[in-house]
Amino acid sequence: MKDFFTEFRNDHRQIRDLIMNLIRAFIQNDILKAEKLLFILNEIAGPHFQFEEEVLYPELIAVYGPEYINKLYIDHDLIIARV
Ligand SMILES: [Fe+2]
Repeated sequence: MKDFFTEFRNDHRQIRDLIMNLIRAFIQNDILKAEKLLFILNEIAGPHFQFEEEVLYPELIAVYGPEYINKLYIDHDLIIARV
């Protein structure tokens, strides 16, 4: 279980860093770099988001309530839309 949480935390760090680098690429108008970063982001965040939305979030409704969990789904939708 420790490996799971370590991997999960590492996913979050990688996703954060990729988004920050993606923002920099957009600011610098470096489309090739942005395209490369988007590909990597999709490889990491896609399965991560899918796991959270299909497995983790439904289980957390009993803990945090539907309103907060719905906010988490919306957070994912917003980041996908912005990217
Ligand atoms: Fe996550």
